[in-house]
Amino acid sequence: MQTFIASNSKEFAQQTADFLFQRFVQKPDLIVALAAGETPLLPYTRLVEKLIHERVDLSRCTFIGLDEWVGIPPDNPGSCAYFLRNVVLDPLNIKSDRFKLFNSQAADLQQECRNMDAFILSRGVLDAIVVGIGMNGHIGFNEPGVSAKKYSHVIDLDANTKNVGQKYFSEHTALSKGITLGLQTLLDAKQAILLANGARKATIMRKALEGPLSIEVPASIMQQHANGFIFMDEAAAGELT
Ligand code: F6R
Repeated sequence: MQTFIASNSKEFAQQTADFLFQRFVQKPDLIVALAAGETPLLPYTRLVEKLIHERVDLSRCTFIGLDEWVGIPPDNPGSCAYFLRNVVLDPLNIKSDRFKLFNSQAADLQQECRNMDAFILSRGVLDAIVVGIGMNGHIGFNEPGVSAKKYSHVIDLDANTKNVGQKYFSEHTALSKGITLGLQTLLDAKQAILLANGARKATIMRKALEGPLSIEVPASIMQQHANGFIFMDEAAAGELT
Protein backbone atom coordinates (compact mmCIF):
# COMPACT_ATOMS: atom_id res chain seq x y z
CA MET A 1 0.00 0.00 0.00
CA GLN A 2 1.12 3.50 -0.70
CA THR A 3 -0.27 6.10 1.64
CA PHE A 4 -0.65 9.81 0.95
CA ILE A 5 -1.56 12.09 3.82
CA ALA A 6 -2.57 15.63 2.92
CA SER A 7 -2.49 18.45 5.42
CA ASN A 8 -6.14 19.35 4.88
CA SER A 9 -9.24 18.38 2.98
CA LYS A 10 -8.59 20.64 0.00
CA GLU A 11 -5.10 19.30 -0.47
CA PHE A 12 -6.49 15.78 -0.09
CA ALA A 13 -8.92 16.51 -2.91
CA GLN A 14 -6.21 17.93 -5.14
CA GLN A 15 -3.78 15.05 -4.51
CA THR A 16 -6.50 12.52 -5.25
CA ALA A 17 -7.59 14.38 -8.36
CA ASP A 18 -4.02 14.64 -9.65
CA PHE A 19 -3.46 10.92 -9.10
CA LEU A 20 -6.68 9.96 -10.89
CA PHE A 21 -5.98 12.45 -13.67
CA GLN A 22 -2.71 10.64 -14.40
CA ARG A 23 -4.59 7.34 -14.70
CA PHE A 24 -6.78 8.82 -17.46
CA VAL A 25 -3.80 10.35 -19.24
CA GLN A 26 -1.74 7.16 -19.09
CA LYS A 27 -4.52 4.85 -20.27
CA PRO A 28 -6.94 6.34 -22.79
CA ASP A 29 -9.19 3.27 -22.47
CA LEU A 30 -9.24 3.30 -18.67
CA ILE A 31 -11.93 1.22 -16.98
CA VAL A 32 -12.69 2.77 -13.63
CA ALA A 33 -15.25 2.07 -10.90
CA LEU A 34 -16.25 5.01 -8.76
CA ALA A 35 -17.81 5.33 -5.32
CA ALA A 36 -20.32 8.06 -4.59
CA GLY A 37 -20.60 9.92 -1.29
CA GLU A 38 -19.29 12.94 0.55
CA THR A 39 -15.65 11.92 0.49
CA PRO A 40 -15.07 11.89 -3.29
CA LEU A 41 -17.17 14.99 -4.03
CA LEU A 42 -14.33 17.51 -4.01
CA PRO A 43 -11.72 15.10 -5.47
CA TYR A 44 -14.02 14.30 -8.40
CA THR A 45 -14.88 17.96 -8.87
CA ARG A 46 -11.19 18.85 -9.12
CA LEU A 47 -10.57 15.86 -11.41
CA VAL A 48 -13.39 16.79 -13.75
CA GLU A 49 -12.18 20.40 -13.92
CA LYS A 50 -8.71 19.24 -14.84
CA LEU A 51 -9.87 16.68 -17.41
CA ILE A 52 -11.97 19.35 -19.10
CA HIS A 53 -9.28 22.01 -18.87
CA GLU A 54 -6.64 19.69 -20.34
CA ARG A 55 -9.09 18.41 -22.98
CA VAL A 56 -8.34 14.78 -22.18
CA ASP A 57 -10.08 12.46 -24.64
CA LEU A 58 -12.31 10.16 -22.57
CA SER A 59 -14.23 8.65 -25.48
CA ARG A 60 -12.64 5.21 -24.95
CA CYS A 61 -12.88 5.16 -21.15
CA THR A 62 -15.48 3.16 -19.27
CA PHE A 63 -17.05 4.25 -15.99
CA ILE A 64 -18.73 1.88 -13.54
CA GLY A 65 -20.85 2.83 -10.54
CA LEU A 66 -19.53 1.01 -7.48
CA ASP A 67 -22.86 0.50 -5.76
CA GLU A 68 -26.45 1.61 -5.26
CA TRP A 69 -29.20 1.60 -2.65
CA VAL A 70 -31.70 -1.08 -3.65
CA GLY A 71 -35.02 0.40 -4.69
CA ILE A 72 -33.85 4.01 -4.86
CA PRO A 73 -34.39 5.44 -8.36
CA PRO A 74 -31.58 7.22 -10.19
CA ASP A 75 -33.48 10.51 -10.18
CA ASN A 76 -33.47 10.55 -6.37
CA PRO A 77 -30.70 13.01 -5.37
CA GLY A 78 -29.65 10.60 -2.61
CA SER A 79 -28.88 7.80 -5.06
CA CYS A 80 -25.33 6.95 -6.06
CA ALA A 81 -26.42 7.18 -9.71
CA TYR A 82 -27.63 10.75 -9.27
CA PHE A 83 -24.33 11.71 -7.65
CA LEU A 84 -22.16 10.13 -10.34
CA ARG A 85 -24.29 11.56 -13.17
CA ASN A 86 -24.15 15.06 -11.74
CA VAL A 87 -20.60 15.17 -10.48
CA VAL A 88 -18.74 13.11 -13.07
CA LEU A 89 -20.59 11.65 -16.04
CA ASP A 90 -22.70 14.56 -17.24
CA PRO A 91 -20.03 17.25 -16.80
CA LEU A 92 -17.64 15.05 -18.79
CA ASN A 93 -20.33 14.28 -21.37
CA ILE A 94 -19.76 10.51 -21.06
CA LYS A 95 -21.92 8.63 -23.58
CA SER A 96 -24.37 6.06 -22.24
CA ASP A 97 -22.50 3.11 -23.78
CA ARG A 98 -19.36 4.15 -21.89
CA PHE A 99 -20.77 3.78 -18.38
CA LYS A 100 -22.79 1.33 -16.36
CA LEU A 101 -24.58 2.01 -13.11
CA PHE A 102 -26.48 -0.65 -11.17
CA ASN A 103 -30.21 -0.56 -11.85
CA SER A 104 -31.28 -1.14 -8.27
CA GLN A 105 -34.94 -1.21 -9.33
CA ALA A 106 -34.45 -4.20 -11.62
CA ALA A 107 -37.04 -6.93 -11.09
CA ASP A 108 -34.24 -9.50 -10.96
CA LEU A 109 -31.36 -8.09 -8.95
CA GLN A 110 -29.32 -11.28 -9.22
CA GLN A 111 -29.46 -10.91 -12.99
CA GLU A 112 -28.47 -7.25 -12.59
CA CYS A 113 -25.37 -8.44 -10.70
CA ARG A 114 -24.54 -10.92 -13.45
CA ASN A 115 -25.03 -8.19 -16.04
CA MET A 116 -22.60 -5.91 -14.22
CA ASP A 117 -19.94 -8.62 -13.89
CA ALA A 118 -20.38 -9.56 -17.56
CA PHE A 119 -20.12 -5.91 -18.58
CA ILE A 120 -16.81 -5.53 -16.73
CA LEU A 121 -15.54 -8.84 -18.09
CA SER A 122 -16.43 -7.81 -21.63
CA ARG A 123 -14.02 -4.90 -21.27
CA GLY A 124 -11.33 -6.78 -19.34
CA VAL A 125 -10.71 -6.04 -15.67
CA LEU A 126 -11.02 -2.79 -13.82
CA ASP A 127 -7.91 -0.67 -14.15
CA ALA A 128 -8.87 1.26 -11.06
CA ILE A 129 -11.51 1.14 -8.37
CA VAL A 130 -12.08 4.18 -6.18
CA VAL A 131 -13.73 3.52 -2.84
CA GLY A 132 -14.63 5.39 0.31
CA ILE A 133 -14.91 3.88 3.76
CA GLY A 134 -18.05 3.68 5.86
CA MET A 135 -18.07 4.31 9.59
CA ASN A 136 -18.38 0.54 10.03
CA GLY A 137 -15.46 -0.18 7.72
CA HIS A 138 -17.50 -1.04 4.65
CA ILE A 139 -16.27 -0.34 1.15
CA GLY A 140 -18.92 -0.15 -1.51
CA PHE A 141 -21.73 -1.88 0.29
CA ASN A 142 -19.50 -4.72 1.39
CA GLU A 143 -20.68 -4.76 4.97
CA PRO A 144 -18.83 -6.34 7.92
CA GLY A 145 -18.92 -10.12 7.68
CA VAL A 146 -19.25 -10.22 3.87
CA SER A 147 -17.39 -12.91 1.95
CA ALA A 148 -14.19 -11.64 0.35
CA LYS A 149 -14.80 -13.93 -2.61
CA LYS A 150 -17.82 -12.12 -3.98
CA TYR A 151 -18.17 -10.18 -7.18
CA SER A 152 -21.37 -8.15 -7.64
CA HIS A 153 -24.03 -9.02 -5.11
CA VAL A 154 -27.04 -7.82 -3.16
CA ILE A 155 -26.55 -7.43 0.56
CA ASP A 156 -28.54 -6.50 3.67
CA LEU A 157 -27.28 -3.16 4.90
CA ASP A 158 -26.24 -3.02 8.50
CA ALA A 159 -27.87 -0.64 10.97
CA ASN A 160 -24.98 1.80 10.87
CA THR A 161 -25.13 2.13 7.08
CA LYS A 162 -28.91 2.66 7.14
CA ASN A 163 -28.54 5.41 9.73
CA VAL A 164 -25.50 7.16 8.28
CA GLY A 165 -27.03 6.86 4.80
CA GLN A 166 -29.85 9.21 5.79
CA LYS A 167 -27.42 12.10 5.28
CA TYR A 168 -27.78 11.74 1.50
CA PHE A 169 -31.57 12.12 1.52
CA SER A 170 -33.72 15.17 2.12
CA GLU A 171 -36.32 13.15 4.05
CA HIS A 172 -36.18 9.92 6.02
CA THR A 173 -35.76 7.09 3.52
CA ALA A 174 -36.18 3.40 4.22
CA LEU A 175 -32.91 1.70 3.27
CA SER A 176 -32.59 -2.03 3.62
CA LYS A 177 -30.36 -3.52 0.91
CA GLY A 178 -27.49 -2.49 -1.28
CA ILE A 179 -26.23 -3.76 -4.62
CA THR A 180 -22.48 -3.53 -4.97
CA LEU A 181 -19.30 -4.67 -6.64
CA GLY A 182 -17.64 -7.21 -4.37
CA LEU A 183 -14.33 -7.43 -2.57
CA GLN A 184 -13.14 -9.91 -5.19
CA THR A 185 -13.88 -7.27 -7.83
CA LEU A 186 -11.67 -4.91 -5.85
CA LEU A 187 -8.89 -7.47 -5.45
CA ASP A 188 -8.97 -8.17 -9.19
CA ALA A 189 -8.71 -4.47 -10.08
CA LYS A 190 -5.25 -3.39 -11.18
CA GLN A 191 -5.29 -0.50 -8.73
CA ALA A 192 -7.46 0.05 -5.65
CA ILE A 193 -7.73 3.58 -4.32
CA LEU A 194 -9.23 4.24 -0.89
CA LEU A 195 -10.21 7.77 0.07
CA ALA A 196 -10.92 9.06 3.58
CA ASN A 197 -11.16 12.50 5.06
CA GLY A 198 -12.30 14.03 8.32
CA ALA A 199 -11.70 13.13 11.94
CA ARG A 200 -14.79 10.94 12.05
CA LYS A 201 -12.95 8.42 9.88
CA ALA A 202 -9.81 8.29 12.05
CA THR A 203 -10.73 5.28 14.19
CA ILE A 204 -11.98 3.14 11.36
CA MET A 205 -8.96 4.05 9.21
CA ARG A 206 -6.66 2.87 12.00
CA LYS A 207 -8.55 -0.42 12.16
CA ALA A 208 -8.53 -0.80 8.37
CA LEU A 209 -4.86 -0.03 7.86
CA GLU A 210 -3.22 -1.14 11.10
CA GLY A 211 -5.61 -3.72 12.50
CA PRO A 212 -5.67 -7.35 11.46
CA LEU A 213 -6.92 -8.20 7.99
CA SER A 214 -10.48 -9.05 8.96
CA ILE A 215 -13.77 -9.39 7.19
CA GLU A 216 -15.29 -7.54 10.14
CA VAL A 217 -13.53 -4.47 8.74
CA PRO A 218 -14.00 -4.99 5.00
CA ALA A 219 -11.72 -2.06 4.11
CA SER A 220 -8.81 -3.96 5.69
CA ILE A 221 -8.80 -5.93 2.42
CA MET A 222 -6.77 -3.00 1.11
CA GLN A 223 -3.82 -4.49 3.02
CA GLN A 224 -4.02 -7.49 0.71
CA HIS A 225 -4.23 -5.59 -2.55
CA ALA A 226 -1.11 -5.80 -4.67
CA ASN A 227 -1.48 -2.21 -5.80
CA GLY A 228 -3.35 -0.27 -3.15
CA PHE A 229 -3.29 3.51 -2.71
CA ILE A 230 -4.66 5.36 0.30
CA PHE A 231 -5.45 9.06 0.17
CA MET A 232 -6.30 10.76 3.47
CA ASP A 233 -6.24 14.11 5.10
CA GLU A 234 -4.44 14.56 8.43
CA ALA A 235 -7.69 14.32 10.34
CA ALA A 236 -8.55 10.89 8.94
CA ALA A 237 -4.96 9.78 9.56
CA GLY A 238 -5.05 11.15 13.11
CA GLU A 239 -5.04 7.78 14.88
CA LEU A 240 -2.42 6.05 12.75
CA THR A 241 0.73 5.17 14.65
C1 F6R B 1 -20.84 4.98 -1.80
C2 F6R B 1 -20.07 3.92 -1.15
C3 F6R B 1 -19.89 3.94 0.33
C4 F6R B 1 -19.20 5.22 0.78
C5 F6R B 1 -18.94 5.22 2.28
C6 F6R B 1 -18.40 6.55 2.75
O1 F6R B 1 -20.87 4.76 -3.19
O2 F6R B 1 -19.62 3.02 -1.79
O3 F6R B 1 -19.13 2.83 0.72
O4 F6R B 1 -17.99 5.35 0.09
O5 F6R B 1 -20.10 4.94 2.98
O6 F6R B 1 -19.34 7.54 2.51
P1 F6R B 1 -18.97 9.08 2.65
O7 F6R B 1 -17.95 9.38 1.64
O8 F6R B 1 -20.27 9.81 2.41
O9 F6R B 1 -18.45 9.27 4.05
